[in-house]
Amino acid sequence: MNRKYRKTVIAANWKMNKDADETKACAEEIKSLVGRVRWCDIVVCVPSVDIAAAVKAFRDCRISVGAQNVFYEPSGAYTGEVSVPMLKSLGVKYVIVGHSERRKYFGETDEDVSKKVRAVLEGGMSPIVCVGEELAQRQAGVEQEIVAAQVKLALQGVEPANLRRVIIAYEPIWAIGTGLTATPEEANRMGEHIRTVIRKMYGARVARSVTIQYGGSMNENNAAELLAQPDVDGGLIGGASLDAKKFAAIVEAANQ
Ligand code: 13P
Repeated sequence: MNRKYRKTVIAANWKMNKDADETKACAEEIKSLVGRVRWCDIVVCVPSVDIAAAVKAFRDCRISVGAQNVFYEPSGAYTGEVSVPMLKSLGVKYVIVGHSERRKYFGETDEDVSKKVRAVLEGGMSPIVCVGEELAQRQAGVEQEIVAAQVKLALQGVEPANLRRVIIAYEPIWAIGTGLTATPEEANRMGEHIRTVIRKMYGARVARSVTIQYGGSMNENNAAELLAQPDVDGGLIGGASLDAKKFAAIVEAANQ
């Protein structure tokens, strides 16, 4: 974390878990456990159908609600999709874009990701842009090139003034849901590399203002060490965020 230049953001990604009742119950528990948070922003990204319940439950506190995906067109004949104006009207502040599960199971391309990033920004919300390499790519030593390309393509056409609202989540695919975590040094090295890519595109002042999260088996035991790194400005947490106590402990680690 480097609080002088950028926000620390701890975000839960519940993925396809919890119905409306479970959302309400977990939100209430999170609210009761998370004390006064001074140093970080907290986001809970829920399934689209649970957004209304989550916004209602978090209404009287500083926890924001995020979506896990969006379509880039504002309206039209796109059966099953949800648009930026729809999310906005519900009170959504953040949208995860380009999660590796969307890229893998739903064929999302870098071009889709870039269109979604711009749509979310134009709608006044913050995209949490996911990037990260597969295990074979790390073993081949090409992880930096892979991630640099993903970042460049995702940010194509994004105005410098909007970069402040962009969050990049570095999620090495081999660490997602596997219990394998990048070491704090590995996470920091990639955070630094991503910032260098942004610096080359937008200059130093913009680059140092961008929040770069780590995601991939982050939990209540390893969060403090990961967040102690200067280029790890928060976390995007899957499994551990489904348990209010574990999630609150990660928030606590970021709030030190
Ligand atoms: P896990 O924390 O379950 O590894 O998931 C990480 C993730 O994909 C968050 O978006």
